[in-house]
Amino acid sequence: MDHVTTLSEFIIRNQQDFPFASGELTRLLNDISIAAKIVNREVNKAGLVNILGDAGSINVHGEEVKKLDEFADQQFIAALKAGGQVCAVGSEENENIIRIDTPVSKNARYVIALDPLDGSTNIDVNVSIGTIFSVYRRISLSGPGTDEDFLQPGTEQVAAGYIIYGSSTMLVYTTGKGVNGFTLDPSIGEFCLSHPQIKIPVNGNIYSVNQGHFAHFPDGVKQYIKNCQEEDKESGRPYTLRYIGSLVADFHRNLIKGGIFIYPSTAQSPKGKLRLLYECNPLAWVVEQAGGKASNGSKRILDLQPRSLHQRTPYFAGSQEMVEAAEEFMLKYSPAEKIA
Ligand code: AHG
Ligand code: MN
Ligand code: MN
Repeated sequence: MDHVTTLSEFIIRNQQDFPFASGELTRLLNDISIAAKIVNREVNKAGLVNILGDAGSINVHGEEVKKLDEFADQQFIAALKAGGQVCAVGSEENENIIRIDTPVSKNARYVIALDPLDGSTNIDVNVSIGTIFSVYRRISLSGPGTDEDFLQPGTEQVAAGYIIYGSSTMLVYTTGKGVNGFTLDPSIGEFCLSHPQIKIPVNGNIYSVNQGHFAHFPDGVKQYIKNCQEEDKESGRPYTLRYIGSLVADFHRNLIKGGIFIYPSTAQSPKGKLRLLYECNPLAWVVEQAGGKASNGSKRILDLQPRSLHQRTPYFAGSQEMVEAAEEFMLKYSPAEKIA
């Protein structure tokens, strides 16, 4: 078997791409991979240990917190605190940022926004779930991180990616030099390079949307979905609908095969359901680095100026030509959907 490239080797080999990095980002990515292995171990035996089901609490979004949500949140925060490379963590599971004040961390150069466990409703039914992360250089000068360290547009990210706990466990990330995927080899406990330089097909025939909200979709989305369902041999329509309710899993499938993921504004979520900082921005950078696009239906996601940690946005992400087609329908049928 030829030599496998582990994540650690890959990061160190590419470290010279960061003119100013003195290894902190390398160590931070390593800390993330350690937490991912611990969460993976629990996900893989969730049915056997008392980690399924509800934690009996409601999070800031009014959503039922699952035990695995809490477990993942704790594991990532503990690994990041121990690693000493971030001065604050913004997590879906915590209303406010977690400012890290330990001697080794409080002057750290980075902050990280996290969705520790994405696809929570799928935990108890053995469907793929994930973790999403987004890393910024701090803008505050020193001491524990502050809110404004997180309120930077997605263009300022220095690293972003996700872990998908599925039929295999993969870590997929970018630091601005393309997108690389690493598959966990449990026999050696290492993430090994399995998908170098991932590129999303410029067009595709998969669309991912929760049809259940159709009645409340903007007209532009309704028209785009109808267009996906029309018979047209030349363009390969009707497209295939694939939606499993875990953003990371739907996104990853479309990244590899081509497709579009849409979570628009709905009656329940007038500004969209997905959170800009720790779901939309990191995946937007990954998909752009892979040659795709991500917008809110009219504006590039990475250009949006965040105003709050848990801010939501409508989300259209995937193959360039599919996102552009959806944006044309939005312009034509829902011009007023100008979410700032
Ligand atoms: P999370 O589990 O982190 O709250 O994220 C769930 C999100 C996302 O993973 C998924 O695409 C979306 O919720 C599904 O929402 P609907 O059930 O409304 O379709
Ligand atoms: Mn999520
Ligand atoms: Mn989550």
